[in-house]
Amino acid sequence: MYNAEPHSAIADARVAAVIARLQVTRPRPAAGGPRGNPAMSRDPNDYAEQGFSIHPEQGELIYLLCRGLRAKRVVEFATSVGMSTLYFAAAMRDNGGGTVIGSEIVPAKVQAAKRNLAEAGLADYADIREGDARQTLRDLGGPVDFILIDGWPGDKGPTLARR
Ligand SMILES: C[S@@+](CC[C@H](N)C(=O)[O-])C[C@H]1O[C@@H](n2cnc3c(N)ncnc32)[C@H](O)[C@@H]1O
Repeated sequence: MYNAEPHSAIADARVAAVIARLQVTRPRPAAGGPRGNPAMSRDPNDYAEQGFSIHPEQGELIYLLCRGLRAKRVVEFATSVGMSTLYFAAAMRDNGGGTVIGSEIVPAKVQAAKRNLAEAGLADYADIREGDARQTLRDLGGPVDFILIDGWPGDKGPTLARR
């Protein structure tokens, strides 16, 4: 059983419940991830079942930084099944309104992230863009307050998948 962070800044029970569920269903490939493992596929579609999500202490930091900055528009590369998005979207709502612009290339993960946000009651605070973030994040519609780069290994070692 996953134990919620004892002093979590996430006060909303619906949000905390979705985060807790994602924590206990955190599948990883038996051989670890593709980062640093050249024998493994680098195709994100081969990992549609794995989130590779941030950990709770990282999410708590994101939430508190966004609250402290009074952030209203934030961006993440990439979304996966929406763990980091939940922390961002919770901060946007608790700041009085705002949007996290997410990006994810694997369609099944986009759908999972949207379901998770809806279950947490945070769907109105997220704009999840499906496709290659190098394209989908080109137009952010204006300045942003905070960006998380949580990318994917390229063919020649770790990369942010930026050009
Ligand atoms: C480390 S995970 C992101 C985890 C997420 N921030 C979370 O906390 O749940 C990296 C994600 O990048 C996605 N990805 C890989 N290449 C991408 C690209 N070019 N554009 C958008 N997403 C990409 C993968 O499918 C994978 O889900």
